[in-house]
Amino acid sequence: MAEPREAVYPPGGDGPWAPRSDLDPAKYQAWKADIKPDYYNHYFYQGVIPLAVDPPDDRNDGGIFSYATLRDANFDFAKFLADFLRWKADLLEVFTDFFFALPTPLGAIPELYKDDNLFGRFFLRGPDPTTLELVTDDSQLPPPLSFKQPGGRKVQTYGRAPLDFDQALAERRVFHIDFSKYSHVTSPPRFASWPHAVFIVIPASSENIGAEPRLLPIAIADKSSGTFATPVSGAAEWEFAKRAMLTAAANYHELGTHLSRCHMAMERYALATYRNLPLWHPVGRLLRPHFKFMVATNNDAIKNLINPGGPVDSNFAAKIETLVKVTVDAFSTWDLRTHGGIEADLARRGLAGADCTLPFWPYKEYGLKVYAAIRNFVQAYLSIWYPSDETLYRADIALQTWRRALRDEYRAPSLMDEHASLEDLITACTNIIWTSGPQHSAVNYTQYDFLGEAKILPFCIQLAEQKQKFEPTHKQIGDQGAVISRLSLYRWDQLGTYSTEDFLTEYGDLGDPDKPWRVVVERFQKELKGLPIPLPETRKGLWDYTFLAPQNITNGISI
Ligand SMILES: [Fe+2]
Repeated sequence: MAEPREAVYPPGGDGPWAPRSDLDPAKYQAWKADIKPDYYNHYFYQGVIPLAVDPPDDRNDGGIFSYATLRDANFDFAKFLADFLRWKADLLEVFTDFFFALPTPLGAIPELYKDDNLFGRFFLRGPDPTTLELVTDDSQLPPPLSFKQPGGRKVQTYGRAPLDFDQALAERRVFHIDFSKYSHVTSPPRFASWPHAVFIVIPASSENIGAEPRLLPIAIADKSSGTFATPVSGAAEWEFAKRAMLTAAANYHELGTHLSRCHMAMERYALATYRNLPLWHPVGRLLRPHFKFMVATNNDAIKNLINPGGPVDSNFAAKIETLVKVTVDAFSTWDLRTHGGIEADLARRGLAGADCTLPFWPYKEYGLKVYAAIRNFVQAYLSIWYPSDETLYRADIALQTWRRALRDEYRAPSLMDEHASLEDLITACTNIIWTSGPQHSAVNYTQYDFLGEAKILPFCIQLAEQKQKFEPTHKQIGDQGAVISRLSLYRWDQLGTYSTEDFLTEYGDLGDPDKPWRVVVERFQKELKGLPIPLPETRKGLWDYTFLAPQNITNGISI
């Protein structure tokens, strides 16, 4: 875990600077009493995930603008969606006409699975940087690599798997990604595989002078088929194992990391905020810009993306009725404190310390810097209302109500204890903004280049029994290109942008010099701009990681 940094901003005014009415209990009670009982009502999707029953049209809601549905009134957004409606209406299935209009995904290269080095890099610089973990215990390894296997570890018999495997384990150079717990997620006759891959870091050494350390796969096990492939298994078998691993990772990316752990994980915080924190409340004002368009986007996903017969149901590794178990599992095993912020999440995976042996990892290097800037901003912003002695913080009934709702109504107790400290609130807000902004941007805007081309990386290895594996149909290719481009080619609101336009008044009038948060917002924007992260325009190829350049990060989960 990185050392907490001292805030670069001076305290904004330590309470008295803020408008006194922002924390007025009587004003809050009146607002709360005015909320309609069905305003952003929720149900539990799959009995587990709180989602809005039907997002209301905020434009007609007496000025309580939450932007859930306003996205469809936005001209650019409407045009973008209309293009895809035209695509959906293409009854002759002339998919290529449209497909040719899109740029070729940069990742449409077979080297992703042919070259071991690039295969390893996919899990560091690809669409999902959240799955790799350090192996700390023998029991985490698939049986042939474990001492607990009768006859002991078989690693020495597997050619490229290095003889110093035990030394590598001791030196924290062995990593893994294990999807095997989803082995039951299948829909025959579709062919699905949920492998367990083991990687080793080859350090810069006498044979590798001047080069970066490399993360290389050394074994891929598939529990359900009983296969265990290694680099010396034979080219076809090894390549097949790597392709199966990429497909499993793509399915987990969409149903787990992206849909569940960004979109759905954040929706309950949006709902709790809309129902419990008014626009003028400091935390309501802080968080609402980061929820813009999300509830409507999620509602659209339920109706048009993961609906029975929809594109995911038709083209992924399993039918949605089964595949949704991945979403539910990823949701149930996520919490705001442990997974919601990059510092804690890297620590959980054994990847946080400076002694981490992985090659240069831009997600970590840049992500930690962006996270620290958000934390500075949140801390400085909240200090305007809540002096550090916590007296005003403890007396804030709106916050107490919001936390109680998250604990009791939305089943999200992490960081929401009855007696949660001001530090807990800072962590909660930082993690909500991190997950809604940078984390979602890192997994969302990587989709097109890495996952847009089904010929290289199909979401389903084989849809029907008689087809060849890894030979997607034209429809599969078209559907995957359409869905992925729809999910990743639209951006709204850069991180740290708080508009002053009439219809976007989350922060009140930023032009008023008496409003101290203007200074804090401007310093946040300046800090983001000055971070030593390569600019988006420097991206020349697939592996130039500019997804966490602040200029590329959106404020929230708007698509
Ligand atoms: Fe998204």
